Amino acid sequence: MNRFSRIVGTGSALPGEPVSNEELVIRLARIGVETSDDWIVTRTGIRQRYFAAPGVTSSQLGAEAARKALAAAGMEASEIDLIVVATSTPDHVFPSTACLVQKELDAPGGAAFDVSAVCSGFVYALATADAMIRTGIANRALVIGAEVFSRILDWNDRSTCVLFGDGAGAVVLSADTRPGVMAARLHADGRQGNVLCATGSISGGEVIGHPFLTMNGQAVFKLAVSVLDAVARETMAVAGMSLDQVDWLIPHQANVRILEASARRMGIASERVVVTVDQHANTSAASVPLALDRATRDGRIKPGQHVLLEGVGGGFTWGAALIQV
Ligand code: UT7
Repeated sequence: MNRFSRIVGTGSALPGEPVSNEELVIRLARIGVETSDDWIVTRTGIRQRYFAAPGVTSSQLGAEAARKALAAAGMEASEIDLIVVATSTPDHVFPSTACLVQKELDAPGGAAFDVSAVCSGFVYALATADAMIRTGIANRALVIGAEVFSRILDWNDRSTCVLFGDGAGAVVLSADTRPGVMAARLHADGRQGNVLCATGSISGGEVIGHPFLTMNGQAVFKLAVSVLDAVARETMAVAGMSLDQVDWLIPHQANVRILEASARRMGIASERVVVTVDQHANTSAASVPLALDRATRDGRIKPGQHVLLEGVGGGFTWGAALIQV
């Protein structure tokens, strides 16, 4: 009998109240950093973002999103035998964020681990959990993207600090005889690691190196548009389908100009692209599951439709997964 994995529930979590561009501009002006709503909207499409209050962690946001995904699936946490969390802002060096989520959900016993692939993290985690379910290692997984990127931002660097936000998204992935995840492809080019990185490490109880995110925005922009196009075509070919059969494209939400440019290259109309970067900013590994949850709950994504998820980011990493909902 064929064995596949299907997404049977989605959920998300956003901390606190949204912080508008106008509010952020005021906060940054207080520390002598000059920016404007006009620059942020024109260059990125971002209008607001959410920031976690001190003490709020990726595992807490991840657990909240997971609970909502479980409720949507009509499942109990005790039925889950695998938790994969994609994050670059884990609560600790270890235990993993996935183990902390498992503890928070009071669902011990299954496997739990983190995936580190930055903004491609959710697609990497989904492909990993799908493979584990198809090979019988797991039956029901929580796949989560959770970040508190505000903690690794250099607030004196206006070219990065206006771009990111905090949040989490989750899906429940369940073994099924019909394919939900139809194809997935993952890639990395470690030679490009320096275009987007946070190189600090912890040694002897101290942060060594530069713990804050640094980015060559234009290099990332160009790489992103080209690899998103290539991996979309590759993934569709593996599924034996073409891009015009995609009902919804959900790319990593970094910049509305990247979303528009890559959709144009793929020949996908902008009405078929789910955009949440205006509301959430770039939430790294959380951006794709947050957008998937939004478009599922507002009824845009309908049963039977094909959705192409795409991630791209630090590492340099990228990947795509075609799902049928
Ligand atoms: O999650 C994956 C990782 N991230 C991305 O995918 C981001 C990819 N890159 C981008 O989205 C864009 O490259 C940015 C939004 C980061 C930058 O847009 P850009 O059109 O490439 O701008 P730029 O870096 O060329 O900067 C243009 C100008 C510069 O001023 P000068 O040198 O032209 O006078 C910057 O100093 O904009 C200035 N600038 C700002 N001005 C006001 C940079 N940041 C700001 C700011 N407010 N926050």
